[in-house]
Amino acid sequence: MALSGTGLFTPAQSITNDELVASFNEYVRRHNDAHAQAIEAGTMQPLAASSTDFILKASGIGNRYVMDKDGILDPDVMCPRLPERGNSEISILAEMAVAAARDALKAADRKPEDIDGVLVAASNMQRAYPAMAIEVQEALSIEGFAFDMNVACSSATFGLQAAADMVRAGNARAILVCNPEICSGHLNFRDRDSHFIFGDVATAFVVERADTVQGGNAWEIVSTKLKTKFSNNIRNNFGFLNRTAPEGIGKPDKLFVQEGRKVFKEVVPMVAEMLVAHLAENGVAPASLKRLWLHQANINMNDLIARKVLGRDPEPGEAPNILKEYANTSSAGSVIAFHKYNRDMKAGDIGLLCSFGAGYSAGSVILRKLH
Ligand code: COA
Repeated sequence: MALSGTGLFTPAQSITNDELVASFNEYVRRHNDAHAQAIEAGTMQPLAASSTDFILKASGIGNRYVMDKDGILDPDVMCPRLPERGNSEISILAEMAVAAARDALKAADRKPEDIDGVLVAASNMQRAYPAMAIEVQEALSIEGFAFDMNVACSSATFGLQAAADMVRAGNARAILVCNPEICSGHLNFRDRDSHFIFGDVATAFVVERADTVQGGNAWEIVSTKLKTKFSNNIRNNFGFLNRTAPEGIGKPDKLFVQEGRKVFKEVVPMVAEMLVAHLAENGVAPASLKRLWLHQANINMNDLIARKVLGRDPEPGEAPNILKEYANTSSAGSVIAFHKYNRDMKAGDIGLLCSFGAGYSAGSVILRKLH
């Protein structure tokens, strides 16, 4: 099996930490002014300001691309404004997926008629149905089948294994996997603990048999390994049954919520152990790894995982980080890191692509450069 091409769509607008913090702090100032009496009387706690220094140090995030900057930065709105589209228009998530998919098809030197299946593997669905994947299929004139799947931040690696299994079983010659993420849509920009975490982006890749690849930068999928373990520490209770309990509509738990410290403490050992075991099962010595394309949520987390896997500090560029520019882009993060940082590698070089996130979920993919 092979990963024969990747693609990336980056939104035109972006927000620096300074811009985001200025908007958040203006919201805090207005809120505290409006509740000055209650705060003075001690019946309400004032909101605390956010800080650029904290964000960069705690997460490694310096910037994020977004689909609507104005809505997010308006202290009265603090949410992207993405107008509804008519049913005859392509949805915004499918449009982003198509842009990344065209890039991936070109890199794989594949035409829509070479693809038999489309997966949209992402953290948030555009709607209940029809599937975004079927929109992408329609927009690209691909025959065959398409469906959406959601494994939160691990959607891309789970999608990669699903695609590889279907191609291996002979159910498709090649599969296009897309990961469109408008994370700003599920982010609570009024929550100081997490308002800086996410950005928007889309990635895509093509999976096909190793003996059929045509593209100039193809990677053998040596092995994949997936793991899930239930946790409430990253959660989003948004769903179609919300209307059956109207008292909960609009509450913060209908957006992304996490216990960041607990996630850090629990996920680092879980992922490091999984990666080490996966390499051992495949007879790959950690010392022979040329690159780690880890999930992009927190730079300190990644440094720790890389250290545990390699048994030493990673050299600069060995575990590339795109957080400073893109922030956490959920399922797309490690695919962006792979897309941007693999061109210098040589035939036979081995790297590890990895995701982790809500569920908990984690995915590990060992890749060997074909030519
Ligand atoms: N600006 C300034 N200070 C802030 C702040 C902000 N925006 N947010 C929190 N703080 C303060 C806290 O109040 C706390 O102050 P205290 O020590 O006086 O109580 C201090 O900074 C530390 O807060 P904490 O939340 O413990 O920070 P952290 O070092 O754990 O970093 C995360 C927070 C979210 C960056 C980090 O926990 C993380 O990335 N965890 C993993 C999350 C993850 O991977 N999630 C997966 C999502 S898919």
